[in-house]
Amino acid sequence: MAETSYAAFYRRSVESPEAFWAEQAQAIDWQRTWDQVLDRSHPPFAAWFVGAQTNLCHNVVDRHLADRAQQSALVYVSTETGQERSLTYAELHREVQIMAASLQSLGVGKGDRVLIYMPMIPEAVFAMLACVRLGAIHSVVFGGFASVSLAARIDDAQPKVIVSADAGSRGGKVMPYKPLLDEALRLSQHPAQRVIVVDRGLADWAQQDGRDMAYAELRAAHAQAQVPCVWVESTHPSYILYTSGTTGKPKGVQRDTGGYAVALHLSMRAIFGGKPGETFFCTSDIGWVVGHSYIVYAPLLTGMTTILYEGTPIRPDAAVFWRIAEQYRANLMFSAPTAMRVLKRHDPALLKRHDLSALRAIFLAGEPLDEPTGRWVAESLGKPVIDNYWQTETGWPILATPRGFPEVPSRPGSPGVAMPGYKVCLRNETDGEPVAPGEKGVVAIDWPLPPGCLQTIWGDDARFVHTYWSTYPNRQVYSTFDWGRQDAEGYLYILGRTDDVINVAGHRLGTREIEESISAHPAVAEVAVVGVQDALKGQAAWAFVVLRPGQLDAASTQQASIAAHVDAQLGAVARPQRICLVTALPKTRSGKMLRRAIQAICEGRDPGDLTTLEDPLALQQIPDAIARS
Ligand code: PRX
Repeated sequence: MAETSYAAFYRRSVESPEAFWAEQAQAIDWQRTWDQVLDRSHPPFAAWFVGAQTNLCHNVVDRHLADRAQQSALVYVSTETGQERSLTYAELHREVQIMAASLQSLGVGKGDRVLIYMPMIPEAVFAMLACVRLGAIHSVVFGGFASVSLAARIDDAQPKVIVSADAGSRGGKVMPYKPLLDEALRLSQHPAQRVIVVDRGLADWAQQDGRDMAYAELRAAHAQAQVPCVWVESTHPSYILYTSGTTGKPKGVQRDTGGYAVALHLSMRAIFGGKPGETFFCTSDIGWVVGHSYIVYAPLLTGMTTILYEGTPIRPDAAVFWRIAEQYRANLMFSAPTAMRVLKRHDPALLKRHDLSALRAIFLAGEPLDEPTGRWVAESLGKPVIDNYWQTETGWPILATPRGFPEVPSRPGSPGVAMPGYKVCLRNETDGEPVAPGEKGVVAIDWPLPPGCLQTIWGDDARFVHTYWSTYPNRQVYSTFDWGRQDAEGYLYILGRTDDVINVAGHRLGTREIEESISAHPAVAEVAVVGVQDALKGQAAWAFVVLRPGQLDAASTQQASIAAHVDAQLGAVARPQRICLVTALPKTRSGKMLRRAIQAICEGRDPGDLTTLEDPLALQQIPDAIARS
């Protein structure tokens, strides 16, 4: 970071991206250097560090062995099981090799997919790192998803091996994983060849001979294994991470290797201000992008200690985050606005109970940060609160206030300014022209996206181009599908999604996926799901359901049965907060569902222009249906 000002640093990143990123890439170990920093020949695709070879696991583990073998790399804290464990870089290296040898013994090699469906335990991190060590491609599926969601991801990724566990635990309640996985494999068109089960001793599980293996056996067999890193092309996929969009089929965001390493390293230094030897505590889950980038890869790439936390923010009490931060002297924290709103319901004195003298800042992302919550955290902790805005697709922040450049202050209500390499522009929804200063527009990013962002959608280049790059014909512009507004100093304000994606407690969900699940319930004729503002979770899903003829008598039983059906298919994370029964859904005369109008009524707003509405009664009955739900 030669520049003294962020303005100069940012300008160089967008005006001379090749020179800028080549310089940033010096921070990473390469087995072979690149022939070309950026291949611009196939827009909207962008290939970074073409011709170079590297390995992500080498960069996060092996290369630190010379200087920090005895430094703690991974601290594991579970308030669910009471376990706390700290692994040095040398110990992490050993565990990753054991896991890599285990995967290898089941035939996993370069390019094979490995699906990881696990709770927050160290073995999940070992499995991710073992995959990238071998050049295999991991796909972590959030543990809160149930069998139908899991089966869809298995079918798409076609993994050779699945790594799972007997169970997780949440709020003291054991959540079995293995039966959900068994059911997913029964539903899947692509039964995995092998399943590794980490048996935590939390729940009994049925072992299918020839398919399932206990990790303890593999671990014992490979305890001394030496597994060298497999050098892969910079453009070789490191992982697939599924995320929701406007269709019922989740998209497999595909990430490269070299570009991701370079971008994450830069982000930790310039945006988060993290340094080697320091401690990073991110409270997310490895099943989400924040967990991938800021529990696992960025802190370890930087030679930091990372904390992996299994538990909730309020158990044993609402000071647990700060107790952990004090005990392990966390220098930086990363959490979600919903977690802070949960804490806000408890005694603010809890935020003062622990010695947080090592902590410099707390970062919050994943959903809008309301100003009162941001202010409450900043005042109660006495630390800066840094909002940052990004997506599964980008892998690291698009907007933030960079801690590496203290002259850029944060502004309440805004996640900040454009981060290096992101040419952010607010565009008119219809013609793609930049909007006038201060006006609302779609947050768009001009091609090329910086390193670390998605390469494509797994197995579907056409969908990648169509989904993200075709909003405005004849323009190479990536749409985030978020509305925004920009002030005169370049600070952006995020105003919500332009599409049907909703954000419940920082969890990104597609209303279409929930609708498809509810439609599959035998009593349901038709359904619309909308996201409704919620004081705690940001948004909540509300479902409006038309039952099949003859089902109305048992209406309340049907509501419970639909909720249970969504739990079993998608997972409790997707269960609508309300299931409202109606006799018709509001549609235009051409049959298009008026979800926006439903949403407006739910939030007590004016539903707007309804001249195209086919049946006004459909809308009029909504307030009653809500009251009855
Ligand atoms: O709508 C934006 C919202 O979350 C979406 C991306 O969610 P996901 O793919 O799960 O990635 C989260 C990575 C942090 C965005 O399109 N979002 C994310 N961060 C913010 C936000 N909305 C407002 N403010 C934020 N800081």
